[in-house]
Amino acid sequence: MKYVILENYETQGVDQKRRLIQSQSQQIAEEVSSSSYIKGEASQLVDSELIQLANLFSGRVIIVNSNFRIIRDTYGIDEDKYIISEEVLQSFLGRNSVNYNKGYRFLEMTIPIRNEESSEVEGIMIISIPTTDVNDASEALGNTVLMLQIILTVLICAVAFYMSHSLTKPFSKITRSLEAVRGGVSEETISIPDYTETTLLAEAYNRMLQRMKVQEDSRQEFVSNVSHELKTPITSMKVLADSLLAQDNVPVELYKEFMSDIAEEIDRENKIISDLLSLVKMDRKSSDVDIHETNINQLIELILKRLRPIAAQKDIELVLESFKPIIAEVDETKLTLALSNLIENGIKYNNAGGWVHVSLNVDNKYFFVKVEDSGMGIPEEAQEHIFERFYRVDKSHSREIGGTGLGLAITRSAVLLHHGAIKVYSKEGEGTTFTVRIPLKYVE
Ligand SMILES: Nc1ncnc2c1ncn2[C@@H]1O[C@H](COP(=O)(O)OP(=O)(O)OP(=O)(O)O)[C@@H](O)[C@H]1O
Ligand SMILES: [Mg+2]
Repeated sequence: MKYVILENYETQGVDQKRRLIQSQSQQIAEEVSSSSYIKGEASQLVDSELIQLANLFSGRVIIVNSNFRIIRDTYGIDEDKYIISEEVLQSFLGRNSVNYNKGYRFLEMTIPIRNEESSEVEGIMIISIPTTDVNDASEALGNTVLMLQIILTVLICAVAFYMSHSLTKPFSKITRSLEAVRGGVSEETISIPDYTETTLLAEAYNRMLQRMKVQEDSRQEFVSNVSHELKTPITSMKVLADSLLAQDNVPVELYKEFMSDIAEEIDRENKIISDLLSLVKMDRKSSDVDIHETNINQLIELILKRLRPIAAQKDIELVLESFKPIIAEVDETKLTLALSNLIENGIKYNNAGGWVHVSLNVDNKYFFVKVEDSGMGIPEEAQEHIFERFYRVDKSHSREIGGTGLGLAITRSAVLLHHGAIKVYSKEGEGTTFTVRIPLKYVE
């Protein structure tokens, strides 16, 4: 910008000067020709006009006649000398020439002097004028522009610094909040209404925080549940052992009874631990599923075979209805675990003389397992919780039936691992139906 301004200013200044000189010298050139001054006739008027012109612009005026001889030089140094140059020759052909020498800071112009009648070029007027005033003014302007430049630079830097500082402020706020999370999930949500983007970011962040909090809570609850459940059998064993130790001469029968109780508690502890392990394994997601083409009919028959003695003990009828042979890609162990628990629950939470119906069906994408029982049912408000770890509907009741509340959690994890779905329909006192839907083809 500075360059353009200065160039423009200088060109205009020089141009203005040129036009002024040209109009003035044209007049004098006409007088020179009309007074036959060019032919050597002395004229005081023309002389004084030439000097006046030279003084006016503090320059030099030279008159050259048709023999290229200098007949008048206002400096008085080159008179009677000859001058031949490109500009002079051009002028004799009738052209004005203007030559601005920027380096030496002067403007040189040649003007042809024409005969009044024949209008032939009889001589030439050469005017050289210093342009120092224009150049000085341009330089002064240059300094002003430079000052302006510096001030603007400083101003821009200051504004940029301030802007970048205030623009990034909301982001430092986010950073601080994120760092605060490192020391544990805080209760605080953040609000950064500065820009639309930060508002969205803050919202996304708050949602994430919410999810983390839920996760953290469920983790803590799980840990406390696990420790409690693991401690219960140990406490029982301790009580049983202590009461035996506190007595002398304990009859053998009592020893046997207490010992069998202790063995039961050990079994219970063992089941909790193995259930927890299966859950943890399935939480690791698809990383270690062992998928094979499996005959589902066979798999279920095997489960029923294993559970039949337990059902017989409680006088419960166990029936399998299967319509078609089904081959599907599943993890045999995990699916067995899942379905076993459903059927086992049907037996466990049933009344003597009741029944459990297992039916198997298939379409072109999924196979379906339905486990129906004539048992005690699950109250409406408990239905949404039964898949949670350690959840049992009626703790005292379940305790006497036995169970840790991990079964359905394992079932659900296994079904989800197969990208399937599980649903429960139940009416208290009438019975319960679980339906499981699993894709025939496993998708990663
Ligand atoms: N078929 C059913 N009929 C009635 N109640 C059921 C049935 N299935 C599950 N429930 C209820 O849901 C609770 C959770 O079942 P889940 O299988 O997770 O645990 P559990 O059977 O108590 O213990 P586990 O299966 O680990 O031995 C049970 O305690 C029971 O109260
Ligand atoms: Mg169960």
